[in-house]
Amino acid sequence: MAESLIIDTNLSKEEKYKALLPQIEALTAGETDLIANISNMVAALRQGMGFFWVGVYFNKEGQLVLGPFQGPIACTRIPYHKGVCGACYTQQKTILVPDVEAFPGHIACSSDSKSEIVLPAIKDGEVKLVLDVDSDKLNDFDEVDQQYLEQLMKLVESWY
Ligand code: SME
Repeated sequence: MAESLIIDTNLSKEEKYKALLPQIEALTAGETDLIANISNMVAALRQGMGFFWVGVYFNKEGQLVLGPFQGPIACTRIPYHKGVCGACYTQQKTILVPDVEAFPGHIACSSDSKSEIVLPAIKDGEVKLVLDVDSDKLNDFDEVDQQYLEQLMKLVESWY
């Protein structure tokens, strides 16, 4: 297991993802516990990418329930039909929100959150969890985030 992350803060966003993803793979290889791997994954994302808030919500007990995260405290339970996470769950696809105020039904866990990207991990046609990344800046996520985070979700799906 890697003991520390090596990410040059001067790199572009794409270069950071390219450097970070193999390290997350190495960090989680050989560990079979799902919560342990997700915990290290979100910590690595926060540390490597400098995200304001990053964490997962599990599909559990008929709703989305907060799992490992890094950042300010957050809402613990989200109904399937609510918020950006709910939209990601019901549509089974990545939802990119440049301005959370403009997203109908957005759930404001933190008033500092301004833009957001949420991605599903799907196994056997079922959304197992969603990865939620929040920024305190408007329009902070784009196709680069989508491309690399979707790649990361393939790794998460392989843990199921
Ligand atoms: N904003 C999300 C809720 C989760 S928090 O941002 C951590 C949503 O609308 O689903």
